[in-house]
This record gives sequence, structure tokens and C-alpha cells, in this order.
Amino acid sequence: MKTLIKNGTLITASDTFTADILIEDERIARIGLNLEADSDHLVDATGKLILPGGVDPHVHLDLPMFDTVSSDDHYTGHKAAAFGGTTTAMDFVVLESTPSGRGQGEGDFQYSVGLWMKKAEKAAIDYSFHMNLTRFDDQIAKTIPSLMDMGIQTLKVFTAYNRRLRLDDGGIFKALQIARDNGMLVMAHCENGDVIETLTTQALSEGRTSPIWHALTRPAWGVVEASLRMAAMAEQANAPVYIVHMNAGGEVDMLQYARERGVKVMGETCPQYLFFTIDHLQRPDGAKWICSPPMRTEQDNARIWEGLTRGTLQTVGTDHCPFFYNGTKPIVYEGSEIVIPGKELGRDDFTKIPNGLPGIQDRMPILWTYGVNAGYITPNQFVAYTSTNPAKIFGLYPRKGALVPGADADVVIWDPNKQVKYGMAHSHQRTDYNLYEGWDLMGYPEKVFLRGKLIVDGAEWKGKRGDGKFLKRNQGEIL
Ligand code: URP
Ligand code: ZN
Ligand code: ZN
Repeated sequence: MKTLIKNGTLITASDTFTADILIEDERIARIGLNLEADSDHLVDATGKLILPGGVDPHVHLDLPMFDTVSSDDHYTGHKAAAFGGTTTAMDFVVLESTPSGRGQGEGDFQYSVGLWMKKAEKAAIDYSFHMNLTRFDDQIAKTIPSLMDMGIQTLKVFTAYNRRLRLDDGGIFKALQIARDNGMLVMAHCENGDVIETLTTQALSEGRTSPIWHALTRPAWGVVEASLRMAAMAEQANAPVYIVHMNAGGEVDMLQYARERGVKVMGETCPQYLFFTIDHLQRPDGAKWICSPPMRTEQDNARIWEGLTRGTLQTVGTDHCPFFYNGTKPIVYEGSEIVIPGKELGRDDFTKIPNGLPGIQDRMPILWTYGVNAGYITPNQFVAYTSTNPAKIFGLYPRKGALVPGADADVVIWDPNKQVKYGMAHSHQRTDYNLYEGWDLMGYPEKVFLRGKLIVDGAEWKGKRGDGKFLKRNQGEIL
């Protein structure tokens, strides 16, 4: 099967040029001017941009949390991703114990990955996994390298969520050493778990239960301190580290400080930290904005933009982890009524509001209008942050994140002139709200190809369950 895309303007992380693209089966076969081929499909992309499919390095699909589960699974979340121009998504495996008991090391990893593979059988775009490293002992330490055989080269550690997900600094340091010795990468959620625990206990004992207290009990200084601590530990272990969901201006300062001193630290931010502030949590529907780490201030938004403009940050992911705002009222998704408990679980106690928000579809269209069109980043930086850099860092490049012969034909035809009043009417995220409701967009994906197959054609969904492939990843690059 051959598809020839004619006369588009290709945007890569480094170049912008006009060319034709010939796709043969699942791969890009040729790129050049005036290509002639006996193609099955001819697409005229005059006036359109051609981008590599987006790579979202940070999503949480079908993730159990509190008394519910994130409301997008590996089909609905992937479908939404595709409508936003993303063709690869990476989510996080919860580290479980084998039914026979704890401390089985490799057994636990294999068992946990197996559970996630099962969930992902319905995948609609390509995907891979990171492993949440939420406990650490000698057996776990010994078997971490076995994850590489499963194509998983990333471990996520947490400096917060005491007694649930957090490792102590000793465990994190040893994980960094193991990662260094095996070509793996540690990803870090940076907040101060002890400060959060203390402030939360105090707030609840004073009867402070509204959503704003989620943010007030997770101060920005905690992430500033924890991300510098993480960078410092990485330097002492001579290992790379990738800090997820950077949300505070001071955190970007720390990233810059460490990178200027040669520390192998990389940073990811997410759209919500560019546009929203703690004030959103004061609204009557403030629970919609609850995620961890929380929203900060306009000064923080501005400093994170500056980090993208200057290239201090490396990626823009989403941390897509949606919950219904009102999980007692069904929505209709693909013709069926769906209802999943959501933010209402914490109506009387902010600590019971499931943490997370939707964004997998929103990321690229929102960042294009309010990042590229607004002049904060160039189109090439847009491609770098949303596709090429995550592909490089996470060992998928040039199969993903690249418009070159031999790469997977994950191709987005982007209409830079398409005007959209964004929100629920366009969103395929399986939840009952969109954070960007009513935002005016200029520039939107028109056609999306996954390994040569057209899966989004305007408003039409042509993908299907099971189309997505698990990607075994190699050692990534340090950017
Ligand atoms: O609130 C969030 N971000 N939920 C997902 C889990 C995490 O810490 O990334
Ligand atoms: Zn996190
Ligand atoms: Zn996350």
C-alpha cells in the first residue's frame, strides 16, 4: 500500500522545507521534490504542514486511584490522543506483587508489566511503558535490569506520596546507580512528601477541606528543593535524570542551574502549568484542576514559557490522568452511557479528590495556538518538544519523532489556518469536562497516519482497538 503526500511543508525539530512524502506500507519510503509514484492514495497537502506524529511521554490510562480509576483506557485515551496529533503514548506500570507474595523482584516486574500489557491490548496508537519504582529492596535492585529485556528502560521514582509511592533518598540514589550501569533512565516526581504530609494533617485538623487546600498543602518550594535534590543526586551518581511535570518557576531555575553545571538532568512540563494558576482551584468547580503537583501562579507560568523559549526544558508531556468532574452523571461515549466515579469523591475532603486531569488530545492543538502562534516557541521547537525530543530521550528515535526515510509513517497533516472553538464538542477524552472549553484555536490536525494507516480524517475516526503496537525501547539519548 502506497500513499503519496504532495506539496506539504515539512516541519522537523531542526528544519522547515517543502517536499513530498511517499509512504510504503508502514514506513516513510522517500522524501523529496516532485516525487512520482504509483500510489494507492494521493493526498494534496498544499498549504498544509507535515509533522511527525506526537509522542506523549507521560500519560496514566486505566490507572486505579483512590476508589476509582482514570477514566480513559488504552482505547479511548489513544483515540483522543490521535485526534490531537499524538501517535505514541507512554504510560506507567503500577508495581504490583505477584499473587505468591512480595519481594519476588523480576517476578513482580514481569507480573506487573503483564497486567499492563493486558490492559493495553485495546491500544489504538503505539505505546510503551515506564515502570513505577515504588518499593526498593535487594531483590528489586538485582532485577531492575531485567526490565530492559522487556523493552522498558525507564523507572519512575517519587519523593512524595508518603507510604504509598515514595522511595527514600537512599533508594532513589541506588536506583540512579543501577540505571547508570544499565543504560536506563530515572524519571522523578519531585515534591517534598514530609512537608505535604504535615501540612495536610494540619489542614484537615483545622477543618480545611476545599480544593484550594490541595495546592496550599503542596507548596512550590517543595518542588524547587526536591528537583534540585534530585539533580544533585543524579550528579553524585553520575546518572541522567528526567524530572516530570515541572510546574514552578523556581524548578525551571534549578533545572537551568544544574544544566549549566553539566548535570545530566532533563525537564518536562505540561500544558496545564503554562495556562492555569492556583486561582482556578478557588472556583466552585476548582476540583477540575486538581492534580499533583498543583497549579501555581502567573509568574510561574511565565517562567516555564521562558524555559521553553530558551530551551532549558526538553519536553512537553501531558500527565493525562482524567477523572469525571461529576462521576454520578453518565456521558455518552461511542454511543454508550459511561459513568465512572470522579472528583465528587472528594466533595467533603480535598485529599479524596482523585489527582489528575485530562490533556492527551489538547496538548498539541493548545500548544500550537498559544505557544507557536503566540510567539513563545517556533514550529521547530514545537516538534522538538512534542515529538522528537521525547522519542530521543526514551529510545524510540528515529523510528518515532522523525520525518526520514525508514521511520514509521506516523505523520500528521496539520492545517495552520483551521479555526476551532475548542472544548467538549471536539474532545474524545472520556470525561465530562475540558479545561480549554471555548478557547479559540488556529491550527489543528487534519489527517493523522499511524504507521501508514489513516486513523483520523478530519472529524472522522478510522482507527480501531488493537491497532496500536507495543514498542520495545532502546537506551535513549541525554539531551
Ligand atoms: O495528579 C497527577 N499527576 N496524577 C497522576 C500521578 C502522578 O503523580 O503523575
Ligand atoms: Zn507524578
Ligand atoms: Zn504522572
